[in-house]
Amino acid sequence: MYTTKTLQDEILRLKKENDICILAHAYQSHEIWEVADYIGDSYGLSLEAAKASQKTILLCGVRFMAETVKILSPQKKVLLSHPMAGCPMAEQITAARLAELKKDYPGYTVAAYINTTAELKTVCDVCVTSSSALKIISSLKNPDILFIPDCNLGAWISKKVPEKNIQLIKGGCPAHTGISAKEAEQARALYPDAKLLVHPECLPEVTSQADYVGSTTGIMDYAKQSPDQQFIIGTENSIVQHLQYACPDKQFYALSKECICSNMKLTTLMDVYHCICSNGGEEINLADDVMQKARRCIDTMLSLG
Ligand code: 13P
Ligand code: SF4
Repeated sequence: MYTTKTLQDEILRLKKENDICILAHAYQSHEIWEVADYIGDSYGLSLEAAKASQKTILLCGVRFMAETVKILSPQKKVLLSHPMAGCPMAEQITAARLAELKKDYPGYTVAAYINTTAELKTVCDVCVTSSSALKIISSLKNPDILFIPDCNLGAWISKKVPEKNIQLIKGGCPAHTGISAKEAEQARALYPDAKLLVHPECLPEVTSQADYVGSTTGIMDYAKQSPDQQFIIGTENSIVQHLQYACPDKQFYALSKECICSNMKLTTLMDVYHCICSNGGEEINLADDVMQKARRCIDTMLSLG
């Protein structure tokens, strides 16, 4: 029988013994954070994936993140913490649908949110994450951009980079788009002294009310560095708890009780242990040509970002 602490100690011992690096997305639980080598947003995880020295990488998050790690480190063994942890947004557009869209938008640069499958990335020009999107989209030479699949992130970028002609298609994150403008108004009224920090995956009528819009890491950094004492958090609700641990003297409120990513919640500390013992998770394997073609748009993101 394990306690959280003894299980964490065993994971820390085994990952060292077996040369395993644990990368955890910020939406993972606090007990997983405590055994991770690196915690971050999607962009940070991509950077770490490219430079980790260990032979095996265990990605605690969702499938497209583990695929990105494999594409950036094809020689390494890459494990996804839970085989069922996918991102519904990554499945919203297929390569066949994109081929049709490209006919409607000839000459456009196809910019894909990193929340897409490896297969789809093979037919895109560049990837972006929420923290790198503005810089990357601004630095593209082509003014005509087809942005897939998140129309809310795309609309936010479009507003910030008006010199680009950005075409959007319908798609988005089920967790973040569940937050309504009314909830933002109610939270503002309930906590008038709090700053409202939201993720750009939220609806435009929510981001337009925010004091700060940014990636998971951006939101956390803003709250930690701000002289303000109270914050309403408009992203996956795990971030509320992580910020409470990081800043015990400040107060954090969830913008919506519905903003929960069930896929991110699948991985437990025991799953991490089972993965390390080669008794769980899933090894990510991708065809060589898929990795080579998908890498082009990830490398373009890393060079521009
Ligand atoms: P970031 O981690 O890049 O902020 O993205 C949030 C998200 O929803 C990841 O799937
Ligand atoms: Fe996908 Fe949204 Fe979950 Fe992120 S929070 S993994 S975008 S469903």
